[in-house]
Amino acid sequence: MNQTIRQLYDRKSVRVFTDEPITYDEKQMILTSALQAPTAGNMTLYSILDIQEQSLKDELAKRCDNQPFIAKAPLVLIFLVDFQKWYDIFNAYCEESPKIEEADLFLASQDCVIAAQNAVVAAQSMGIGSCYIGDIMENFEINRKLLHLPKYALPYSMVVFGKPTQ
Ligand SMILES: Cc1cc2nc3c(=O)[nH]c(=O)nc-3n(C[C@H](O)[C@H](O)[C@H](O)COP(=O)(O)O)c2cc1C
Repeated sequence: MNQTIRQLYDRKSVRVFTDEPITYDEKQMILTSALQAPTAGNMTLYSILDIQEQSLKDELAKRCDNQPFIAKAPLVLIFLVDFQKWYDIFNAYCEESPKIEEADLFLASQDCVIAAQNAVVAAQSMGIGSCYIGDIMENFEINRKLLHLPKYALPYSMVVFGKPTQ
């Protein structure tokens, strides 16, 4: 079994974190690893929010089915299905607005989760644990307001990261 496969076998969700922060370099490595993920048509129909405000983490913890460990996680990333950037570019440079269809949503959501899983794998390789939070999707209508998202962006995957306790 090689090291990559060993790490896939060893991964487990982590919900209790030490007080040790995630360093700037570690965070950069997690984010840039996420960006290496393949995307449909190379369109990168997603964006990543790095939630830093404690009050926002607290609110997300409450809204996501009262899971307090979310508020304690040193790194909280939300992966958005994001058509807005393309919509804005089309509107700026083309005569017609782009049509956004259901199929695009399915493709964009795949972009999102593949990037999120790259972040999870990269984090684990540096000894950083993670846990997906599905409730961000269940309550996306209200959470998109909390995050001040424009019309064509919606929260799809949320992952919290931190150094695992023993
Ligand atoms: C899409 C998705 C949503 C999840 N949502 C939550 C969640 O809201 N809270 C939580 O504690 N774990 C959540 N999990 C973690 C799963 O419970 C966990 O992956 C599963 O029980 C298997 O355990 P393992 O990750 O340790 O292998 C989620 C996982 C996925 C993939």
